[in-house]
Amino acid sequence: SPSDPDLVERARAAKAKLGDKVFVLGHHYQRDEVIQFADVTGDSFKLARDAAARPQAEYIVFCGVHFMAESADILTGDDQKVVLPDLAAGCSMADMATAEQVAECWDVLTEAGIAEQVVPVSYMNSSADIKAFTGKHGGTICTSSNAKRALDWAFQQGEKVLFLPDQHLGRNTAVRDMGMSLEDCVVYNPHKPNGGLTAEELRAAKMILWRGHCSVHGRFSLDSVNEVRERIPGVNVLVHPECRHEVVAAADHVGSTEYIIKTLEAAPAGSKWAIGTELNLVRRLANRFASEDKEIVFLDRTVCFCSTMNRIDLPHLVWALESLAEGTLVNRIEVDKETEAFAKLALERMLALP
Ligand code: 13P
Ligand code: SF4
Repeated sequence: SPSDPDLVERARAAKAKLGDKVFVLGHHYQRDEVIQFADVTGDSFKLARDAAARPQAEYIVFCGVHFMAESADILTGDDQKVVLPDLAAGCSMADMATAEQVAECWDVLTEAGIAEQVVPVSYMNSSADIKAFTGKHGGTICTSSNAKRALDWAFQQGEKVLFLPDQHLGRNTAVRDMGMSLEDCVVYNPHKPNGGLTAEELRAAKMILWRGHCSVHGRFSLDSVNEVRERIPGVNVLVHPECRHEVVAAADHVGSTEYIIKTLEAAPAGSKWAIGTELNLVRRLANRFASEDKEIVFLDRTVCFCSTMNRIDLPHLVWALESLAEGTLVNRIEVDKETEAFAKLALERMLALP
């Protein structure tokens, strides 16, 4: 259980026994009981960059979801082993784009005669297969903190972007940050023949958005924003760009988890904030800033935790750390060599973005 002092002590002891052999990374959406054991916390970009920060650590325990652990494996040395404390910690958005579907989409673009003009830009929240596809076709990975820079780069390489798999981040970045219009974007539905699009529609589009979304952020609505503004006069609405376009358009501030934290750190005392992102982070921030007289509420009380992020709990972390401390490698995430080579190309393009 969250407050079980016995488990806290066991995690501490196993981590102490492992010493420099283990490096624990924690995404901001992790539970408090887990995040307290992270050597580094961050958004997806920061964790990808920092994964390689401890080359001497034999084990990297990733407290986050599967695609993050895969990315850490891709970006670290062959002798470093990445461990995901619960293998069921996936991401429903990442699952919305499979390698077969994306290969089929590329055939559709080829038949429409536009594949040569298209640069794939894939959100970090995708499988290693999708990252490899992206690298193979001259594209880059992005996260919510560098999506605009990734799109700027991509539009220097080609005339059109295939954005995978989060339609909302793609649309929000194109319209809010790049000055494109909603009409510049089309949505490719992998469950329909030809993505549900005609060749003319594909030729006219600048942004071809994959029909994927985050099951947590997709639940915030324009009503959530209107209701909180009515309930808390003067409230600042701060949301993640995985939210739907109308929510982002109605918000005061938009950014990644790291941006959300920095914004609240800089906020003046007496200010009021409604946050549209995962609940573990919002609760932690509400508690942290309560003493500074910053009022922080969850944008919509009917939205819940990310259930897969929450799979990493203290019992799983203790089990993973104790197993490693006893010399038993468990729950290793290992991307095969060929996939890794192309996925790494795409990830390194992201890390080199200006
Ligand atoms: P960031 O931490 O990069 O903002 O990502 C949010 C997210 O949904 C990760 O799953
Ligand atoms: Fe995936 Fe959304 Fe959960 Fe992030 S919050 S891991 S995008 S389902």
